[in-house]
Amino acid sequence: MAKHDLDPNYLDPNYEPVVNHSGNRPFQQVLSARMQRRTVMKGTVGAALASVMGLGLAGCGSDDDDDNGASTGGDPANTDLGFKAVAVSTANEVVVPEGYSSLAFLAWGTPITGSYPEYQADGTNTGADQEQQMGMHHDGVHFFPIDQKAGGNSSTEGLLVMNHEYINQDAIHASGPTNAGDNGGVRPADEVRKEIAAHGVSVVHIKRDTNGTWDIVFGSPFNRRITGNTEMDIRGPVRSYSKLITQYSPDATETRGTLNNCAMGPTPWGTYLAAEENWHGYFANGDTTQPREQTRHGVGSATRYDWELADSGADQYVRFNVTPTGASATDDYRNEANTYGYMVEIDPFTPESKPQKRTALGRFGHEGVIFAPAKEGEPVVCYSGDDSRFEYIYKFVSSQPYYSATAGGYLLDEGTLYVARFNEDGSGDWLALDLDDADFASKVAAAEGTMVGDIQFDGFENQADVLLNTRLAADIAGATPMDRPEWGAVDPNTGEVYFTLTNNTQRTEDQVNAANPNANNATGHIIRWTEQGNDHSATSFDWDIFVFAGDENTETVVDGQVIVSLTEDNMFSSPDGLWFDYNGRLWIQTDNGYLKETFGNDMMLAANPETREIKRFFVGPQGCEVTGVVSTPDVKTMFVNIQHPDGNWPNAAEDRPRDATVIVTKDDGGVIGA
Ligand code: FEO
Ligand code: CA
Ligand code: CA
Repeated sequence: MAKHDLDPNYLDPNYEPVVNHSGNRPFQQVLSARMQRRTVMKGTVGAALASVMGLGLAGCGSDDDDDNGASTGGDPANTDLGFKAVAVSTANEVVVPEGYSSLAFLAWGTPITGSYPEYQADGTNTGADQEQQMGMHHDGVHFFPIDQKAGGNSSTEGLLVMNHEYINQDAIHASGPTNAGDNGGVRPADEVRKEIAAHGVSVVHIKRDTNGTWDIVFGSPFNRRITGNTEMDIRGPVRSYSKLITQYSPDATETRGTLNNCAMGPTPWGTYLAAEENWHGYFANGDTTQPREQTRHGVGSATRYDWELADSGADQYVRFNVTPTGASATDDYRNEANTYGYMVEIDPFTPESKPQKRTALGRFGHEGVIFAPAKEGEPVVCYSGDDSRFEYIYKFVSSQPYYSATAGGYLLDEGTLYVARFNEDGSGDWLALDLDDADFASKVAAAEGTMVGDIQFDGFENQADVLLNTRLAADIAGATPMDRPEWGAVDPNTGEVYFTLTNNTQRTEDQVNAANPNANNATGHIIRWTEQGNDHSATSFDWDIFVFAGDENTETVVDGQVIVSLTEDNMFSSPDGLWFDYNGRLWIQTDNGYLKETFGNDMMLAANPETREIKRFFVGPQGCEVTGVVSTPDVKTMFVNIQHPDGNWPNAAEDRPRDATVIVTKDDGGVIGA
């Protein structure tokens, strides 16, 4: 069969097929009420920001029990935006406000470990070189202060850990990729090795010298590449489940690699969780029928990069073909895709540690994860969005309590996974996806023998099966289908949880719900909620919409009042990256793949969560998405990732683009954003 003939969009790495056909529309009967109560996006009235004070943030003050190592700098009480907004830009350069400077750092191909093979600007680095260099398509990033384990909060030395979501296949090779169709049906194995090595995660020990210049600490034992071929353990309830048996791991406890790592989340115990987002595109099943574990995630009949066609025929490449070929699962890789779709824990401070896939957090298109502040003696709570059209937002609550002295990844192996239902009246419920939960068990029993979307549902074998099929379980639970949940963030001052809903142009008028009220939602919105009693392990919450993205005519209206009216200083489209800095300013990054004539290049804005003031702070170069942001604890050095730039950014003397981390500083050495 010809490659990609089923789906013309398949080569687009951001393309997410609509695979939720469950028709979950829990609010259709009550939609008439939403226009009176809930936030709606409206037209052209140029009203000023009005009545924003006293709008009822569920403030609880700063949290003295916060043990997550996120030591702060600056003034947590002050989230004012003290810079002058920058204009939209279509220039092939980074734009930052007056009084700020930016510098590209850690570009794709920069040597960071091993023998430090020099970057070859002509694309001739080998697969082995790439395994020792920065990967491509920088995404989620976190700065771990080097002294964090000892309770410190260095802002001059640390481990910068980042994801490499996918690759520019044209730029990575000297003359582009060798197409299997032009090469006897195979791809050169070293091209494939290089592409796999450009995926994954980089751990880079960096240090600022007395002149303020950041550099890699060469030879540091912490410097490390994790790739699409690194050995990993399966942990949590899905470990050892028969549906993960492969030739490589007959006991279903291990796999190789992590792929399409989008956003991330630092854990309260100083490790890093990398999300596996659009992993479905790396696997191919040539059978006419596929198991639900694949169909509900969009696994197709061809892979994005044809790695399974590597001419060496080596096992680490063949595994991307998940068509059953052997007598049983121990003889082939029919289950390989079941070892993907998780949050992967990496301990950057233990370079020899094996990454751990934490299956209790569910299997879906994980955009990222955000932890609530950890409190002694209470459960660990984290949130994760499933970025695909009409997918859901999830929350994990650990069974074991958190104690800072003993906390570790084991806390993520046992607990309850919930999915969010946003009710029309501004309340919300967390629905347990747990066969021991009476409500869920009864819904599962009722669904047995029926069609759930386009899946004939014949039950779950056990809780491992529930987690393996998290999306299907959430369909059955009655979760609210969202407009592509991307990053989340927790306000350090109030505990409110924010999520970006980047866009969904496929939502029709009869598919709108209160939390996703716009049909053909081309520009997205940001939702937020407060857990009942400000307890992150609560099973209900109150939500509202923080802002609707769009052009300068876009208003966010609550109870008939215009709360935000966007202007040319802050109009934006397709919010994606989201991060609260350590003082409580909210940073919003965009991935607006279209509408460039209005919004220009992708950007990053800052928001004051209390007043909803928003200002554009940063615009990236042409073609890029601005994704991934973190700062040092003092918030005086900010790291912003530029993914898939065009042309020859950042080095005009070279002839291919390089993803890079942009270091932003304030020229007076002050707090960024203040
Ligand atoms: Fe990788 Fe949903 O962005
Ligand atoms: Ca993203
Ligand atoms: Ca995106």
